[in-house]
Amino acid sequence: MIIRSLKVTNFRNYDKVNITLGSKMNIFIGNNASGKTNILESIAILGLTKSFRNGLDCDVIKFNKKKAVIEGRILNNKQIKDLKIEFFEKEKNIYVNSKKIKKYAEYISNLNVVIFTPVDLDIIKGSPSIRRNLLNVTLSQISYSYLVTYNEYNKILKTRNEYLKILYTNGIADKTYLDVLTDKLVEKASVIYQARYNYLTKINTYISGIYNNITSDDKIIRIEYKPNIIINSYELKNLKNALVNVYKKNYKRELQAGMTLFGPHRDDFCFYIGNDTDMKIYASEGQQKCAVLAYKLSSIPIFKENNGTNPVLLLDDIFSELDLNKRNKLLKYVNEDIQSIITTTDLKNISKNNLKNAVVFKVDNGKLERS
Ligand SMILES: Nc1ncnc2c1ncn2[C@@H]1O[C@H](COP(=O)(O)OP(=O)(O)OP(=O)(O)O)[C@@H](O)[C@H]1O
Ligand SMILES: [Mg+2]
Repeated sequence: MIIRSLKVTNFRNYDKVNITLGSKMNIFIGNNASGKTNILESIAILGLTKSFRNGLDCDVIKFNKKKAVIEGRILNNKQIKDLKIEFFEKEKNIYVNSKKIKKYAEYISNLNVVIFTPVDLDIIKGSPSIRRNLLNVTLSQISYSYLVTYNEYNKILKTRNEYLKILYTNGIADKTYLDVLTDKLVEKASVIYQARYNYLTKINTYISGIYNNITSDDKIIRIEYKPNIIINSYELKNLKNALVNVYKKNYKRELQAGMTLFGPHRDDFCFYIGNDTDMKIYASEGQQKCAVLAYKLSSIPIFKENNGTNPVLLLDDIFSELDLNKRNKLLKYVNEDIQSIITTTDLKNISKNNLKNAVVFKVDNGKLERS
């Protein structure tokens, strides 16, 4: 899919912008604080309804204004869709072809995005919740049923946690209701485990090739899925049995903790390089950046396989920490049959050949100019 045009109104440091994007590479070039990440952010929000930046939805509204709007025209398999998101101080409205959409799940596949921003450098060394969030964002775009199951899982989890607390403080409460909740939770949990395992297994078939392509290395990069229960097989039946047994065995522990201690909400995964070297402990900044980039780029063929179309690739400030050779290799890699939005402060020493399909926009203090 590609974004034909983008319009933002009172968004961050922009008053009004209306641009036609190139169907291949789009480069936004400008000084620090000129508005490059803001443009990329507007596209990310159009895809996911939420920003990758921390803070409130209404933070995107330009200072002293009441309403921000992001609009985009998306072309996917010869079909055009007009997406629009309006932000007010206390609410946001989402529209597809002028029709208001109430549920996030009904909106989410209209614009698939794969995003890399400098914050993603925390993926390898940061907390497990960052990595779980990453899995959820991608899997929700790839599979509607994953998104629905994940939402249901969270609802049941919340109820189960509340009930564990009630059971603990009120010893005579009925345990059979907990068993009902556990059965429901196990049903959803096993589907999530399986989807995440299958996804990471696929990522592993691509990640080393892409990493080595960018770095000119010859290394094996491997992702290892690390659920907090022992799983011998990812068949649904086996997953359910494993979970049921864990909950049975740990009933007293969970009761005392007043919460569900096992399940996909405690998942993690790790990056390894070469012969099982944990990247969390040993990887350099550049190695981390390339591994995370390779991880993100590995999701592109999986999008294509599942959704029949490439996502739009958003790369914020990709050149910092990369030496010249890697910058050119990365651009060469991205220069394929995919629309990309790239931000950078300069294009020094970038080979002309890598820019031949590129549309370049100059960003200057909230103004955009196609050059
Ligand atoms: N709600 C808002 N209203 C007005 N201006 C805002 C708002 N939110 C952020 N800004 C401003 O937008 C400007 C541009 O931010 P942006 O992150 O896009 O810069 P950038 O070009 O990516 O810079 P860098 O190269 O340093 O990453 C900043 O000066 C910031 O203060
Ligand atoms: Mg920026």
